[in-house]
Amino acid sequence: MMSTSSSREEWAARAALWDKHAPEGESVTDELNQILIEITGTESGDNVLDLASGSGEPAISIALKVGAKGSVTALDAHGEMLAVTRRRAAKLELSNMAFEIARMEDLPFADDTFDAVTCRFGLQSSEDAVQTLREARRVLKPAGKAGFMTHGVEERNTLSAVLANVIRSTLPEKSGETPPRRLRFRDAGSLRVVFDAAGFSEVGEREVLRTVIREGGSQFWRSLLERRYGSRLKALDAEGRSQLDAAIDEAFAVYLAGDHYELQSADMVAWGTK
Ligand SMILES: C[S@@+](CC[C@H](N)C(=O)[O-])C[C@H]1O[C@@H](n2cnc3c(N)ncnc32)[C@H](O)[C@@H]1O
Repeated sequence: MMSTSSSREEWAARAALWDKHAPEGESVTDELNQILIEITGTESGDNVLDLASGSGEPAISIALKVGAKGSVTALDAHGEMLAVTRRRAAKLELSNMAFEIARMEDLPFADDTFDAVTCRFGLQSSEDAVQTLREARRVLKPAGKAGFMTHGVEERNTLSAVLANVIRSTLPEKSGETPPRRLRFRDAGSLRVVFDAAGFSEVGEREVLRTVIREGGSQFWRSLLERRYGSRLKALDAEGRSQLDAAIDEAFAVYLAGDHYELQSADMVAWGTK
């Protein structure tokens, strides 16, 4: 089945930008990965499957947690994205990682294989979220746990909301879904429903609210801007791009607190047991 808004071609093109902004080794957003590790009860020696790993989040953090006696399988539909994860794993000399190019809706693993299944910011791309969770449950060992994280509401996500506002007022509107697909599971209860429908027990869900600190004067927003809006930025010439950058800097100025920016961040996380 072809994916819809997250088509093969789109992800292949985006992979270069994700590659450019991926950390060289360990995660720079490890705080979120540790939440997934904690809610799935992942420990040293476990065998974990990470769905829609992209450039290696949270797969790399999990590989460091489970150690040499455990293993992590990083799965993604697009090999170009997994290539970044492979490079990071090689840099960290991780020998406990496997890589699988496959769709999260149709997992190429036997029943009862993994101690835990994780997924960070990937479920929104699924063509069938309940089927994805059913597959996650099928490949879990009895009493194994799944933990999925999705983007939260835009109003509590400073970085995302500020960029979206500036882009809206600068670049011609791209016709598409409103709200965008990446916010499919932003509302309280929307992830829990999918876990329940897939047959999980002990289902829980919560919002993850954080204050994120970024260095004053740094263009900390550049990575997300390019990963999220890379294809639309191509419409700008050099002058247009420098005007956009200046508008973004100005929009973030109100979040300066002394020598750093203070930003709010909101994500949703849900978990369940097989
Ligand atoms: C927003 S990225 C998230 C990557 C990573 N988990 C993170 O938190 O940075 C979404 C990923 O989902 C992958 N993807 C899209 N559709 C998929 C599908 N049907 N099955 C598996 N992976 C898919 C994309 O290739 C991309 O790497």
